[in-house]
Amino acid sequence: MREEERSRTYYIHTFGCQMNQADTGIISTLLRNEGYKPAAAEEDAGIILLNTCAVREHAVDRIENYLQHLQGMKKRRKDLLVGITGCIPQYQREEMFFLSPAIDFLAGPDTYRTLPSLIEQARAGARLSALDFNAAEMYEGIDQERPGSISAFVPVMRGCNNMCAFCVVPFTRGRERSHAFSTVLKEVRQLAEAGYREITLIGQNVNSYSDPETGRDFADLLAAASHAAPKTRIRFTTSHPKDISEPLLRAIAGHENICNHIHLPVQSGSTRILGLMNRGHSVEEYRGKIDLIRSIIPGVAITTDLIAGFCSETEEDHQATLKLLSDVRFDSAFMFFYSTRPGTLAARTLPDDIPEQVKKRRLQEIIDLQNEISSKLYEEAVGAVVEVLAESESKRSGQQLMGRTATNRVVVFDRAGHEPGDFLDVRITAATSATLLGTAVDN
Ligand code: SAM
Ligand code: SF4
Ligand code: F3S
Repeated sequence: MREEERSRTYYIHTFGCQMNQADTGIISTLLRNEGYKPAAAEEDAGIILLNTCAVREHAVDRIENYLQHLQGMKKRRKDLLVGITGCIPQYQREEMFFLSPAIDFLAGPDTYRTLPSLIEQARAGARLSALDFNAAEMYEGIDQERPGSISAFVPVMRGCNNMCAFCVVPFTRGRERSHAFSTVLKEVRQLAEAGYREITLIGQNVNSYSDPETGRDFADLLAAASHAAPKTRIRFTTSHPKDISEPLLRAIAGHENICNHIHLPVQSGSTRILGLMNRGHSVEEYRGKIDLIRSIIPGVAITTDLIAGFCSETEEDHQATLKLLSDVRFDSAFMFFYSTRPGTLAARTLPDDIPEQVKKRRLQEIIDLQNEISSKLYEEAVGAVVEVLAESESKRSGQQLMGRTATNRVVVFDRAGHEPGDFLDVRITAATSATLLGTAVDN
């Protein structure tokens, strides 16, 4: 490719959560609108963007390693521009430039409209950043480009106001604000008309959604989305335990196409630790929400996030977490050990006093127990017939497809003439702790 042509092509690496994945789609649209074209691979791109995540130290280390690779590339390709977007630059600000000479420009989550101008100025030799917070920036009117044509993310809010003591998100994404009800519904309707089979409403705390025009809440939004796309699966993530309400649960139970899965991060099974984490609820209140969810939504799957080794966590606190896992029997969990994030409430006020090997040992105990629970729950599904949305060919074989149940369990099954995008019934024949195996049932 000629150098001039290549200078107007881009490749985006996305790290982190669904919000970042959705933002990558927004960045892509903004660049295309200015005449830039996506490159098929990093090697073919004149501009490489890393859309980054700052949630744990490990996520930041990955970017540092990647920057070394890009620096090597830049030595060979003088025309290559490297931009860092998303949560790390917003968090580390201009200091990030010191990380690597490979970085040409920085842009935070609220400044993506400036990217074309940053790129132009970087071409002219400037090293610039755009890191202002702008709570008014919702990227209204920018259609998010989406990978694939089966599942789509629809952001319903940006930012987070919760200030959990361990978490950087409020510092990287700013104040919480919701998209207008009408905008979300319009997008849901368009996606359904375009043939998408599954729509996930996303936000760091979706159930604190509030329509800026009418104050309607997330239960209203979910029900309205279900009506706007009646043949499409509707999912949502992430819910905060303190904002789980009965009307929300009734909306889920009352609409066939709203998936009976709730991701409800608990973080710890100790009320003392939850207090230090500033989560806004006790373990008993959390257990009460679980009971309420299960009493209203039949067959619901509840998944969670857990952090091992938060500041001052004792063996007793850790045992309380294991006890909570045994009692609740989550379908699955994302499990992490605590990683202190400079600037957060915990980093400023609580010593990170649990030795790394203790954090890792506790995490392993949590993982082992959760795997055992998931294995048993998955094993119980053997023999059942479940509805699956086929998503893609399985990694192992083109003869098999991979899909998910409404409860978000992964199912691998023999293809038998089906294509990604099909809804079909699958009889479960075997299970591991993370995957169900089955065969299509012909109706
Ligand atoms: N908004 C969601 C919530 O309230 O649970 C998720 C936020 S965060 C992007 C995803 C998960 O990362 C959290 O639920 C938590 O378990 C984990 N996490 C966040 N900060 C962390 C830290 N400093 N160390 C380890 N894990 C962390
Ligand atoms: Fe972070 Fe808490 Fe907000 Fe989730 S709810 S993004 S953990 S501050
Ligand atoms: Fe990471 Fe930012 Fe999401 S810190 S988890 S990419 S909001």
